[in-house]
Amino acid sequence: MCGIVAYIGTKPAEALLLEGLKRLEYRGYDSAGVAVIGADGVLNVVRAAGRISVLEEKLDERGHLPGSVGIAHTRWATHGSPTENNAHPHVDASGRIALVHNGIIENYTALRKYLADKGVECVSETDTEVLAKLIGQLHATGHFDLEGAVQAALREVTGAYAIAVISADEPDVMVVARKGSPMIIGLTDHSFIAASDASAIVAHTTQVVTLDDYQVARLSVGKDGCDIRTSTIDNVTVSRDVEELEISLEQIELGEYAHYMLKEIMEQPRALTNALRGRIDKREGRVVLGGISEYARDLVRARRFILTGQGTAWHAGLLGEYLFEDLAKVPAETEYASEFRYRNPIIEDGTVLVAISQSGETADTLAALREAKDRGARVLGVVNAVGSTISRETDAGVYLHVGPEIGVASTKAFLGQVTVLTLLALFIGRRRYLGADDVSRYLEQLEAIPDQIESVLKQSDYIRDEVAKVVDRNNWLFLGRGYHYPVALEGALKLKEISYIHAEGMPAAEMKHGPIALIDEGMPVVFLAPHGSQYDKAISNIEEVRARGGRIIAIASENDTRIEQYADTIFRVPDVAEPLQPLLSVIPLQLLAYHAAVQRGHDVDKPRNLAKSVTVE
Ligand code: G6P
Repeated sequence: MCGIVAYIGTKPAEALLLEGLKRLEYRGYDSAGVAVIGADGVLNVVRAAGRISVLEEKLDERGHLPGSVGIAHTRWATHGSPTENNAHPHVDASGRIALVHNGIIENYTALRKYLADKGVECVSETDTEVLAKLIGQLHATGHFDLEGAVQAALREVTGAYAIAVISADEPDVMVVARKGSPMIIGLTDHSFIAASDASAIVAHTTQVVTLDDYQVARLSVGKDGCDIRTSTIDNVTVSRDVEELEISLEQIELGEYAHYMLKEIMEQPRALTNALRGRIDKREGRVVLGGISEYARDLVRARRFILTGQGTAWHAGLLGEYLFEDLAKVPAETEYASEFRYRNPIIEDGTVLVAISQSGETADTLAALREAKDRGARVLGVVNAVGSTISRETDAGVYLHVGPEIGVASTKAFLGQVTVLTLLALFIGRRRYLGADDVSRYLEQLEAIPDQIESVLKQSDYIRDEVAKVVDRNNWLFLGRGYHYPVALEGALKLKEISYIHAEGMPAAEMKHGPIALIDEGMPVVFLAPHGSQYDKAISNIEEVRARGGRIIAIASENDTRIEQYADTIFRVPDVAEPLQPLLSVIPLQLLAYHAAVQRGHDVDKPRNLAKSVTVE
């Protein structure tokens, strides 16, 4: 949600910032801007509504910004519409200090009033501008340098922020800070490149410092080299560790693919192999999860699991609920993190909360885990982004290891989340009710899934052609039973997110209780019906839809001939044990959504109104 990139060094800043912004564009793309301090000591700011390409055109027209200190931002609007005037960077009253911000300043109305009383007016509708003006006002008192003014301003702020600030009065300094929104500082021999996301840094360095909440870094580059000072907002110096980034440039490049989403769908066999690597001991019938081994006893004795997340991660959680009950025989429930955190939830002894998140930064999921922790729950993370806030605040966890996900519509992360939850269920189940042979059988089948996904992916062109027949329809249903109910939800969400087609997912039996009224001639109804315990019931539901003119798109087992008399279109998946079927049945739905969006002419990687990582409530 919004992207920040900031540079201080010896190279021309503008090109570097624009390149970084493009890598961050998946986080927000309704407006963008850049500020650079020129050699003449003048602060230049250029902003534009729309994509980063619009900002580039503007820079081409009005002339580029010379200088080697600058900050840049790509925005996903929260306060105020996505206009040029609301775009970041925002400047202080003197026009000599500029700031970019991710997050939300919750007390901005009170701060705006405080500033107005001091004669400082804000000209945009944003919460961010208030912070820029406040830093400027404190700086103007003469009591603070830039670092001190930032610290003092942040002491007055409630809310969440990651910020980068520069001042024409201190042209060899940049100040960055964070609370609740990520901020990473890349270190090279001659420069610092700070960003909200590692993808804007990795092309330059893999050596990074990650700020913690309420920390500020003063970055300076002078004749004597680079210097970094990290402190709290109360100006207490803190030490910092330099870490190695775990992502590579290749992982975040598009390569031969038209879109990141397609790339990430297609690389799922490899992603799954990576998620399983080192975690399977078939001979002993055991799952090896180093990140939770210390807590194994607590997990085995747990009386209740609460799985929480938002969006796709919540769908993975719902699958986790089925997996935990089925394989580990332990009560489990799934909660939207946004509801859980405010519901006065009951946490009894033996409750374990599992926070599921690709980014590890989703505000509601983070708040839910803090709430559960405060109430005495053990908290586990199922997270993709290594070192992210959720991964750091949980007691223990299991990383997905599927590599960075750039496409806004989540695909390989969902696969990774379901894989890890399956492993967790087997890990606990083996210590409770499952025998070594049972676990070995599941593990053997799990290991075969990457190749089986490969075979499903080969249907991509066929799926594209079949989608073309129904892509003009504006209402779809996705139905499944048991393990396929959460997959139906995920399939409907994918279609909604990127093709803007209205789609609903639900348990197949629930359709009769209302939604069946929607079915008319030719309405696409996607049925998840691989062979399994509820296959016959799914066929009955298919007949109910057919009788009302619905067009059946079935996800069915490879060797299922019976389905042919009921379905208009069939996408095939290999036969595996029921708990593992979602890992395969979700793949055709991802491709279906992708092809529908492309055929409707939408920008698959930048769907309207969405953001990859939602760091505000
Ligand atoms: C946003 C994204 C979804 C994602 C959800 C949770 O809504 O667009 O794709 O599933 O946030 O994100 P997380 O990073 O916590 O998995």
